[in-house]
Amino acid sequence: MDTRDRKFTTRADAFEAMDDTPLSPMTEPTLGDIVNRRFGRRDAMRGALAVTAMTAMGGTLLTTTRQAQAATPSFGFQEIAAGVDEDHHVAEGYTADILIRWGDPVVPGAPVFDPMNQTAAAQDQQFGYNNDFVGYVGLPFGSDNPDHGLLCVNHEYTSEEVMFPGVARQGADFEEMTADLVDVEIAAHGGSVIEVRKVDGRWTYDPNSRYNRRISALSTPMELTGPAAGHDRMKTSVDPTGTRVIGTLNNCAGGMTPWGTYLMAEENFHGYFWGELTEDHPEFVNYDRFGVPGQSYAWGKFHNRFNINEEPNEANRFGWVVEVDPFDPTSTPRKRTAMGRYRHEGAESIVNHDGRLVVYMGDDARFDYLYKFVTDGRVDPDNRDANMDLLDSGTLFVARFDEDGSVTWMPLVFGAGPLTEANDFFSQADVLIETRRAADLLGATPMDRPEDVEPNPATNKVYVMLTNNSRRTEDQVDAANPRAENDHGHIVELTPPDGDHGASRYNWEILVKCGNPNVAAVNAMWNPATTEDGWFTDPDNCAIDGQGRLWIATDGNQPGSHSNRADGVWALETEGEARGTAKHFYRCPVGAELCGPRFTPDDRALFMAIQHPATSGADKFPGFERPSTFEDPATRWPDFDDNMPPRPSVVVVTKDDGGIIGS
Ligand code: FEO
Ligand code: CA
Ligand code: CA
Repeated sequence: MDTRDRKFTTRADAFEAMDDTPLSPMTEPTLGDIVNRRFGRRDAMRGALAVTAMTAMGGTLLTTTRQAQAATPSFGFQEIAAGVDEDHHVAEGYTADILIRWGDPVVPGAPVFDPMNQTAAAQDQQFGYNNDFVGYVGLPFGSDNPDHGLLCVNHEYTSEEVMFPGVARQGADFEEMTADLVDVEIAAHGGSVIEVRKVDGRWTYDPNSRYNRRISALSTPMELTGPAAGHDRMKTSVDPTGTRVIGTLNNCAGGMTPWGTYLMAEENFHGYFWGELTEDHPEFVNYDRFGVPGQSYAWGKFHNRFNINEEPNEANRFGWVVEVDPFDPTSTPRKRTAMGRYRHEGAESIVNHDGRLVVYMGDDARFDYLYKFVTDGRVDPDNRDANMDLLDSGTLFVARFDEDGSVTWMPLVFGAGPLTEANDFFSQADVLIETRRAADLLGATPMDRPEDVEPNPATNKVYVMLTNNSRRTEDQVDAANPRAENDHGHIVELTPPDGDHGASRYNWEILVKCGNPNVAAVNAMWNPATTEDGWFTDPDNCAIDGQGRLWIATDGNQPGSHSNRADGVWALETEGEARGTAKHFYRCPVGAELCGPRFTPDDRALFMAIQHPATSGADKFPGFERPSTFEDPATRWPDFDDNMPPRPSVVVVTKDDGGIIGS
């Protein structure tokens, strides 16, 4: 994108467009015998089933009680009407409660939110802006407690036009942004950990919990670990060791590990940097491939670290996956460089049958790639501490999709193939810092913006959300990305052989092609049982419930993409005759996208992050045709108080009879 393009009236629309600029130009040994010897099992040792079995053997590993089933049950709710208004809506027989909102206290003793007098110090203790990823881990650790746990929530970015009184959407000069407002923005990025509990069927969070924590871009020291840590290209004037960095940026989706840590994915980090990228800049080739400096915020105006001419290496310290231990609020988050540097969307994982952890990750930009990381070591179900640095050693792979229905995972290893000095890679650190350029050289398949990628423990299939790609031309179409000017997105299903997530070759298939099935030019593909309310566009995040059923969260439904509906959650059948049938479950307020859907281990609660209400695409809907501002937003959800701007919030859905969601 040209993030300096100011045609967008909202920050959210600019972020969507940010992925516009096309910057993109094997067989593992099976170690299942080891697990089999230990547990005396053969066929059942697959994915999360292996974890369940390990736990049954006395382990304390965080686990699920998921069981593979011959046929997953269909969704049992009455679908809602697609549409748009100022409020949110959930299927009949369910209740959607607001759990926590931007500005609510997180750190014990945090001040009460005052939107007219925001300060960085207050924001650094309050719930941040634009909640995205949501993770849940039961308390105490290892209990899988479905009624009481820690919620881990990312705060991806800020939207100045509805955050600050008197500040409209800023142009290239950011004239109305002061140093103080910038510091509020910096403090509003990062993540929150909060203790949550179900009491009498209703969920609340405890503002006084000792676990509660704000992780922010303003004040949280982090450690860089793995092969790129300490490399010369990671050193700055403030950190001559190349191993310490303050904060994390643009935390989009993420993941939870089996040992109960929280992975925060750094996505559009390029937008925070200022300066001029000239050919004599030491990181010219690297930064050019990432779109650094994007200059979509005023931060570089007030902080030298965000200016690539003042601190040429600072941008190399962002674009990673950050691991946080939510059980210890004093712990230092670690940026795991072995997992590569790119615009990470998410990091959802599965324990392979051999005990290694496999993490699936998308690089969310048009024509960028799908990755997986396979740890060298195996998850130890009996010893949490033994897993805490597992993500520092392993192999990063990038995907090539072929017309014959196979996908090949190609290792990004220094010295192998083209990843040598001949192409200016001098170590594994170089390969990881410039993951995109390394993947280009390997011939990875340019995808239609890979967002969430989630393995299904019940079936071992893997679901890849490809949100859209309006820039793909007819001659760039391929089997896995079959539509030119793909405004609608599609979902690809991967099948590892024998459920082996360590394999170098899987099969793939398109599950659905999104968009309106009644418009021939859209060329959508759904099961014909999908109703007029049931189709959607722009799949972004997803969740797999305890029964192995797939739920899709969207970002981009709006009239501009042949859609006349707000974003939300749709349940999507994946098995049997109903495969490819979608049903509408929950609808966002106008201008919001749906992020981070996450079920509790018993499937009786669904947490969802409602991001950027009132902004993205709101002005395209009849009745809302104006740029939203703090003073005049398209909606004041969720408070509907004239003195309160719209607030990104986490919503929790429960069934009124206390039953399983979607039963
Ligand atoms: Fe942050 Fe790719 O959505
Ligand atoms: Ca996303
Ligand atoms: Ca998104």
